[in-house]
Amino acid sequence: MSNTFVIKGLGGERKLHGIVRVTGAKNAALKAIASTVLFRDTVTLTNIPEISDTLRMFDLLKDMGAEVIKTRKGAYTVSIEKGFAPELTPGIAKRMRASVVVTGPVLARYGKVSFPHPGGCVIGARPLDLFVSGFEKMGAKVSIKDDSYVVTAKGGLKGAEIFLKNQSVTVTETFMMAGVLAKGTTVIKNSAMEPEIADLAEFLNKCGAKISGAGTPTITIKGGKFLSGKGHPYKTMPDRIEAGSFLVLGALSARELHITNCNPEHLESPIDILRSAGVGIEIKKNEIIVRAPSVLRPVDIKTHEYPGFPTDLQAPMTVLLTQADGESTVFETIFEGRLNYTESLSAMGANITMMDPHRALVRGKTELKGRKLTSPDLRAGLAFVISAIVAKGESVIHNVDTTIDRGYEDVETRLRAIGVDIERAKMVPEETPESAV
Ligand code: EPZ
Repeated sequence: MSNTFVIKGLGGERKLHGIVRVTGAKNAALKAIASTVLFRDTVTLTNIPEISDTLRMFDLLKDMGAEVIKTRKGAYTVSIEKGFAPELTPGIAKRMRASVVVTGPVLARYGKVSFPHPGGCVIGARPLDLFVSGFEKMGAKVSIKDDSYVVTAKGGLKGAEIFLKNQSVTVTETFMMAGVLAKGTTVIKNSAMEPEIADLAEFLNKCGAKISGAGTPTITIKGGKFLSGKGHPYKTMPDRIEAGSFLVLGALSARELHITNCNPEHLESPIDILRSAGVGIEIKKNEIIVRAPSVLRPVDIKTHEYPGFPTDLQAPMTVLLTQADGESTVFETIFEGRLNYTESLSAMGANITMMDPHRALVRGKTELKGRKLTSPDLRAGLAFVISAIVAKGESVIHNVDTTIDRGYEDVETRLRAIGVDIERAKMVPEETPESAV
C-alpha cells in the first residue's frame, strides 16, 4: 500500500482562490540540522518543515548518537553527545542524498567519517568526486571499504583552497562547514550561490564562525573554533521552490492566489519568466499575488545555477508550458534524468517531444486528462499534482510518501484551503519503482 493523492481536476478553469502559506525551506533546514555537529552546546532549530527528509536527517544524527528533542511543531533542539559515532548509518544515508553534507562537519570534528554512496531522487548520475577531492585537499585520506567511503584526517582537517569544477550546492555547504572547524583558512572557489548557502553562513556566523562571501562565487572560512548555539536559535528561511511551485499553480488555475511567508527576492528568474508568459504578478514584502491570465504565451526555459532558473522548478514550469499557446522549449542543463516525467504528461495529453535527454519541445495548448501517475522524484511529484489540478477528470498520484511527502509539508490541506479537490488515500500502486526513494 502506498499513500496516494486522488485529485479531481478543474478542466482548465481558473477558480482557485485564497491564501497559501510557504513553509521553511527543505534544502536550508537539512543543512542547518547537519551543522549542529559544529557546536559544543545545544542548538535550537525553528521553522523546520515537518517532512520526511528532515525527520530522516534527525534520525541519522540520533542514530550516530546525537540527542534530538522536539519542543513543538517545527522546533527542535540538537546536542552532540559524548560517544557520537562518526559513521553515517547506511540504512538512512543511502535513502537521502542530502545526508552527504553531514560528512563535512563530522570529519572536521572527529578527524574521520565513513558513509555509503548516498541515495536520493534519481535525476542523474550525481557523482561524489568533488567531495573526495575536497577532503583530500584538506589533508584527508579517502578509501573505499565494503561499499563505504572511509575518510581519515590524522591531526584534523587543514584549511585549503578548493576549486569546484561544477557549482555544486551540497559540495559548497559541506566544505563551508568543514572549514569552520579546520585549522587555518579555507577558500572555496566557483562555489554555488544559492540563497540557502548564505542563510547557513549567516546562522553559523551568528554562532561564532568566520565565513565571508557566502552567496558569491568565492567563500572564505577562517576556521578552528567550536560554535555556540546559546542565544542564537536558527529560523529556517522560506522555501523558494515551494513558493515557485504555488506561483506556477496560481498562474494556471487561480482567480487570485496570495502566496505568503515567502521571499520574492529569491524568485526573480521564475517571476520574470512567468511575466513574459503573460501572468499577472504583484509583489509585496513577504507575499506574492498571482492571477492566471486568459491566455498564456510560450516561453523558452533553461535551468541554471542560482540566480538562474532553478532545476527544482523545471517540472512545474513544463506543466505550465503545456497550457501556453504555441511552441516552448525546455533545456535542463544540470541533471540529465530530470525530464523523464514528461512521458506521463504526454500520457495526459500534452504534446512534448524529447530532443535529447536534456531538451524538450512543448507544443501547446493541449487539454490534459486525468490519469494514474507515479512520480519519479519529489519535484516531478508536485508537478503531477499541478497537472492533475489543471486536467479534466480524476487523477491518482501514487507513491506520495516516497516522493511528495519528502519535500512538502501537509500539502493537501493547504491546497484544499484554496479550492483544490484533493484527498489522500492508501492504495496499491500501479508500479513502485525502487528508485523513487
Ligand atoms: C542540491 O543538490 C539540491 N539538494 C537539489 O535539490 C537541487 O536540485 C540541486 O542542488 C541543484 O540546485 C539539496 O540541497 C539537498 P549539486 P546537489 O551537487 O547539491 C555535479 C530537491 O529536489 N556534481 O548542486 O546534490 C552534479 O552532477 C533536490 O530538493 C559533481 O560533478 O546538486 C550536477 O551536475 C534534488 N560532482 C551539479 O554538480 C560532485 O561531487 C550540481 O549538483 C557533486 C556534484
